[in-house]
Amino acid sequence: MSATHPLAFALFGCGRIGRMHGRNIARNSRARLAACHDVNGHAAIELGAELGCRVAKTADEALGDASIDAVFIASTTDTHAELIERSVKAGKAVLCEKPIDLDLGRVDALWRTIAPLDPLLMIAFNRRFDPSFAALKARIDSGEIGKVEIVVMTSRDPALPPPGFITGSGGLFRDFMIHDFDMARHLVGDIAEVTAVGANLIDPSIGEAGDIDTAMAVLRAASGALVHVNASRRCVYGYDQRLEVFGEKGMLQAGNLRPTTVESWGAGGTHAADRVLGGFMQRYDAAYKAELDHFVDCVVKGTKPSSDFAAGREALRIADAAAHSMATGRAVRPG
Ligand SMILES: NC(=O)c1ccc[n+]([C@@H]2O[C@H](COP(=O)([O-])OP(=O)(O)OC[C@H]3O[C@@H](n4cnc5c(N)ncnc54)[C@H](O)[C@@H]3O)[C@@H](O)[C@H]2O)c1
Repeated sequence: MSATHPLAFALFGCGRIGRMHGRNIARNSRARLAACHDVNGHAAIELGAELGCRVAKTADEALGDASIDAVFIASTTDTHAELIERSVKAGKAVLCEKPIDLDLGRVDALWRTIAPLDPLLMIAFNRRFDPSFAALKARIDSGEIGKVEIVVMTSRDPALPPPGFITGSGGLFRDFMIHDFDMARHLVGDIAEVTAVGANLIDPSIGEAGDIDTAMAVLRAASGALVHVNASRRCVYGYDQRLEVFGEKGMLQAGNLRPTTVESWGAGGTHAADRVLGGFMQRYDAAYKAELDHFVDCVVKGTKPSSDFAAGREALRIADAAAHSMATGRAVRPG
């Protein structure tokens, strides 16, 4: 790879989010989608036809191609660890969807195997790359609000995930709130203690599948800052994603996005605006593109990604602690 040639990608996984990442790669002027692969051959053939890339019948076919620089892993969570290992061993730079795996032991075993190869490996915590959240973080770092004391994070999904998703997902903490846990670490540093409660308030089938649909977590950072995360699998007014950071010299807030900024003010009421953008692909469209740009930058310049393997591991560790806290009713130090 070089700064003058587009980075050649293979995409593993052409499902819901893989298709979106494939389109972003194909439309990025510094990248090119060389190949896509999915164990569901139809999904890969469809995406290959849409984006004009080669369809690899197996992962090895793509990994054995020396002209491919990087792999984007967007397959189901249970395949990430194995595909990371094979891609790194094939000498590819890797951008992998969250979470690395649902089992911390497996994550650590993977790291022991690949660390000696000094991989360029990024975990796709897209929210770090949202323009508003990134600007908020930069302003914290500049000292604008002084020492951070309280963070309030709101994370409410517009609608329940597709049927069957919950069972293999890892649950609300490891699949969904893992984004918030990463954002918490990103903003306030290491997390020393986690307290979490959860409930089934929306759909009994989620409880039957062994998961919760509503949760609150309180994290105590090593710095002393307190972080509150509230999450829901249902939100009738769109995808509610807000951040508030309170410090000794003031507060920073980043709010929701709407399709337009038009508001209606009349005798019947004031301030009626569009619903907030629904769905992660719309809300974080700019973030997914910036995430890809960041990865391309890291490969071209040989720099370390912002959301690296350790970030993926730490977010899972916090999610595990949240699950443990909910089960025991106690505050838990991430193990
Ligand atoms: N960052 C985010 O905002 C975000 C959002 C949604 C999903 N995700 C993550 O992305 C991943 C995929 O989620 P999704 O919603 O697109 O799931 P999906 O089920 O829609 O798609 C997954 C695809 O992977 C394919 N697949 C399974 N095993 C494979 C293998 N060994 N090799 C190649 N392809 C394989 C499946 O056939 C399927 O087409 C999950 O890990 C999920 O946690 C991240």
